[in-house]
Amino acid sequence: MLKRISALILAGVTALTMAGCSGGGDGDSSASGGSAGGGDDKIVMGFSQVGAESGWRTANTKSVQESAKEAGIDLKFSDAQQKQENQIKAIRSYIQQKVDVIAFSPVVESGWDTVLKEAQNAKIPVILTDRAVDSKDTSLYKTFLGSDFVEEGKKAGQWLVDEYKDSKDTVNIVELQGTTGSAPANDRKAGFSEIISADPKFKVIASQSGDFTRAKGKEVMEAFLKSNPKIDVLYAHNDDMGLGAIEAIEGAGKVPGKDIKIITVDAVHDGMQALADGKINYIVECSPLLGPQLMDLAKKVVKGEQVPPRVVTEETTFTQEQAKEALPNRKY
Ligand code: AHR
Repeated sequence: MLKRISALILAGVTALTMAGCSGGGDGDSSASGGSAGGGDDKIVMGFSQVGAESGWRTANTKSVQESAKEAGIDLKFSDAQQKQENQIKAIRSYIQQKVDVIAFSPVVESGWDTVLKEAQNAKIPVILTDRAVDSKDTSLYKTFLGSDFVEEGKKAGQWLVDEYKDSKDTVNIVELQGTTGSAPANDRKAGFSEIISADPKFKVIASQSGDFTRAKGKEVMEAFLKSNPKIDVLYAHNDDMGLGAIEAIEGAGKVPGKDIKIITVDAVHDGMQALADGKINYIVECSPLLGPQLMDLAKKVVKGEQVPPRVVTEETTFTQEQAKEALPNRKY
């Protein structure tokens, strides 16, 4: 009898100890939890990446993975292949695994409230990385780390205004938008439009999504060229679409950077090379190196410390001359 009572007490103590250790992703107490990480003291982060659609994304994934390693954070990484349903599945799986913190770069802005509520109910803090969501309830995430995409669009528009300041002629613009419904596509369009709409000589004669990929950028630009005999400027929401469009422009017997001026966003290596080669005229930088800041924020939110609700990435712009100077030291 005594033996049975001792066994029951032991089982009870073991269960309580395990419950205490699991942390369950509780933002207040799980700094040494790591229930999904196999029992050591590491913070466990579940990260849902958009995909591998662009040079920017590849550099961003590398930055997140390397920084997690350096920060001693156990990273569970999944690639959603640009599908929201895959991101929702990944987030639900991280909730089930009781990770300490979830970070993700939302492929589109809308439709996240339900899954974010599930994470909140499970007391797992969420960090938005790179892209925003349009949820009214901002308590569903701890912070949003990333660029100011509206500002990027404004910088692109301002270059155009300055470039054509002495001309009275109509400037026909075609626009390659990023993924439909994504924050960078919405905001880069809005910022650009705000600046150029002050002068009626700027006319956006065609605007379509190229899904942030080189292949789609080429395909859509080919269609633009067929249906629009006079295109003066291409504004592409990222380098990759701009690079695809350059192939289409050359295929149509025109000279990119001269016959058609090109503005892009990102400043990844291939884009910067095309800028230095004179095929692109201006690039607005969008930095993918978010990893180190993300890991710092993750450590803080897991400890229950206060973090700013918005952390904006510092960025610049590049002309052709500046690209030539910057290229040898460019990290991505
Ligand atoms: O969200 C950032 C954007 O996503 C980058 O500008 C683009 O290249 C990427 O695919």
